[in-house]
Order: sequence, then structure tokens, then C-alpha cells
Amino acid sequence: QRSLGNGRQSPSSPLKLFGQAKKTANEIFRHIADYIVDVDSFVQEICQVGYIEGIDFQDTIKGFKDKVTGIMEVLGRDHMKVVFFGRTSNGKSTVINAMLREKILPSGIGHTTNCFLQVEGGTDSQEAFLLTEDQPDEQKSIQSIKQLAHALSSVKLESNSLIRIVWPKEKCRLLKEDVVFVDSPGIDVTPDLDVWIDKFCLDADVFVLVSNAESTLMQTEKNFFHKVNERLSKPNLFILQNRWDTSVYEEDVEAVKQQHLERNLEFLVDELGVTDSKEGYERVFFVSAREALVSRLNQDKGTPTPTGTLQEGFQARLFEFANFERKFEECISKSAVKTKFEQHTQRGKKVTGDLKALMDKTFTLCLEQLRNKEWERQEKADELDYKQKQLSLLTVEVKDKIKSMVEDVERKVSSALNEE
Ligand code: GTP
Ligand code: MG
Repeated sequence: QRSLGNGRQSPSSPLKLFGQAKKTANEIFRHIADYIVDVDSFVQEICQVGYIEGIDFQDTIKGFKDKVTGIMEVLGRDHMKVVFFGRTSNGKSTVINAMLREKILPSGIGHTTNCFLQVEGGTDSQEAFLLTEDQPDEQKSIQSIKQLAHALSSVKLESNSLIRIVWPKEKCRLLKEDVVFVDSPGIDVTPDLDVWIDKFCLDADVFVLVSNAESTLMQTEKNFFHKVNERLSKPNLFILQNRWDTSVYEEDVEAVKQQHLERNLEFLVDELGVTDSKEGYERVFFVSAREALVSRLNQDKGTPTPTGTLQEGFQARLFEFANFERKFEECISKSAVKTKFEQHTQRGKKVTGDLKALMDKTFTLCLEQLRNKEWERQEKADELDYKQKQLSLLTVEVKDKIKSMVEDVERKVSSALNEE
């Protein structure tokens, strides 16, 4: 499905799966939170009435509330993360710009990207800004790509440092759908690969290796993904054979393409084992990020793409780029839903399970105390009954005694009278 232009929706985007799952999960947790409030007031009420005494559930219930609030906070921040790697100048930054349909990241000949750049959607603010690791709360405004390039070159950056570019999400569909893009410096210019993996790759949902159609995969690129594969179980990896436009005037293009494809599949299927040979065909794409970017920018502006910027056979490459995006969107949303929300679901299940156990306990305690009270009442009633019986026995005894005393007196009186 073709995107309708910059920022506009493609109605059936697979990315929606993530948004819907997030919304549903959020609703479920809101219900759980309401349920906790109900449980809290119910338990307080029966404590006041005195059904359960000497037991304090308040801390436990507060613990549940905190847990659910925590999960909802993390859920709100959850996103889909894609990280791009590849050798210098292979076109990583250009690929990201083409996907975002906007020239956000600086690109150029030579070693351009010096550190990790994360592009993410900003919320209310209409203006783009930068956040650096050393001043995470200071928003540095950026109005243009030139200004961004200048801002990046004016500070000394370590290759493993991260700059966050917060871009108005309304402008780019993928940012709006919660995709976060991470651009990296060339994989060939740094010995810091282990730090890179720890810092940027462990929570990534998809990796894109931007390769160069003019050469085969290099050992540095392969080694990096071997390392990633050791740390993450079955990472989702796409390979873009970029700059495919440069191959049009070569002889035997199809043979070269076949050779690239075979080597890439060998790497993905046999070496890394991250995909099978059938799915592998949906992980390798022959594209031209530059053509995709320039044609999209013009399309969105409604201007014709200048002649000479697109090479012969460009439609097929544009189609392949869109095809890559489709597969990428399906893959990232599925993976993110699974990895991000599975944990929340488990924790949510645990909270509801614990809540149920608490309600069960409250119920048993109430029942026990009711029984105790009934027993006490019964005991008192029995005692009363006994006392009544005792009393009536006593009454009878006293009556008899008085009667005999009276009789005795009467007898004595009458005998005294007779004697007289
Ligand atoms: P570093 O940031 O230096 O690691 O490079 P990068 O991988 O980000 O490459 P970048 O996107 O900066 O592109 C390098 C140069 O290649 C730029 O001049 C791009 O215009 C050009 N380029 C990118 N993609 C293509 C493509 O598909 N075809 C052609 N012909 N040129 C491209
Ligand atoms: Mg770059």
C-alpha cells in the first residue's frame, strides 16, 4: 500500500498492530487499576465494620497500585526500535531519511555520522530539538539539517555517544506510529563494537545492515552481527543492498544480483541462523536510498523529480524500497509487541493473581471471624440457658423450703393453741 504523502496515513500499515496492542494493554491495566481501588475500599470497609481485625492489607494493596502505575508508565514509553549499521558511506543516513520522507539526518561523502543519532517522535512541541547525553534535560532547538550538521560538528563526540533528535511526530508517519530510528557511525571506523551492542542493540527490535551494491559483505560487518547474535536470540536482520542504481550500466547485473543474494542468504541462514531460506528472500532488498529519497521529497512537495536524478529502471528500485518497508513494518511491529508487551502481560497476570489471592484470604478470614462470633454467641446463649435452669431449680427449692417452713410454723402454732 502506497503511503499518501508526508505524514499522511497509509490505512493498513502493519505498524498499527503495535499501536492497537499498546492501547489494549493500556486499557487492561486501567481496568486492573480500577479493580485495585475497588478492592482497597472494600477491604477498608470490612475492616471498619470489624469483620477482619488485626490484619493490615494496606501495604500490600499499595504495592499493587505502585506496580500497575509503573507498568503503565513503561508501557507509555514503549516504542519500536530499529538500528542501522553498515560501513561508512553505504547510505545509512540516506536510507533513514528516505523512510522518514524528510532530510533529517546529515548525509554526505566521507565519514559523516560521528556518533549514534536517534530520531524519535516528539509529542506536543511543533519544533524539533536535540538532546545530548551530558545535558539530557536541555532541549537544543534545530530548524534545519544544516543547523543540525553544524550543531553536531561543533561538539566533540565519542563514537558511542548518543544524540536524540526529537522530531515533530505529525510530520512523519513512522514516528507517529512509535518507530524510533537509530543511525550509527560506520562500522569500520571504531573498535568499540561491544560497547555499541550493550548500549544500543539489546532493546532493538530490528537491525538493518546497509550494504553496498558495489562490494560484497565485509568481515567487519559479519563479525559485528555474529556478536549481536551471541547476545540476542534470533535478532531480526534485514540487509539492504543499497546504491543499486549505480549498477545499471554494469554488464551482467542479474548475475551480480544473484551472487549478492546467495552470499547474503548464506550469511543470514547458514552462518547466523536467524532466518530460514524461505523467509530469507524477504530479508534482502536491492534498493537505491538516494532515488527513493529524492522522488519522495518531490512527490510530497508536488514537484516533478528533476531529470537525471533517477537512473534507468528506477521504478523497480522504488518498488523494492517500498517492499522492504512493508516487510520491515510487519516484522518490527510483531517483534515489538512480543518482546515489549509479553513482559507486561506476565506482570499484569501476576498482579491480578495476587489480588485474587488477597480477596480469597479476606473472604476466608471474614468467614472464620463470623463463625467465631456465632460460636461465642452460642456459648453465651447456652450459659444463659443453664443459668435460667439453675434459677428455676433454685426457685423450686426455695418455694419448697418456704412451704415447709410455713407448714412447720403452722404446725407449731396449732399445737401450741391445742395445749392451751
Ligand atoms: P556515514 O555516516 O559516513 O557512516 O555514511 P552513511 O552510511 O550514513 O552514508 P550517507 O547516507 O551519508 O551517504 C553517503 C553518500 O552516498 C551520500 O553522498 C549519499 O547521497 C550517497 N548515497 C546514499 N545512498 C545512495 C544510493 O542509493 N545511490 C547513490 N548513487 N548514492 C547514494
Ligand atoms: Mg551517516
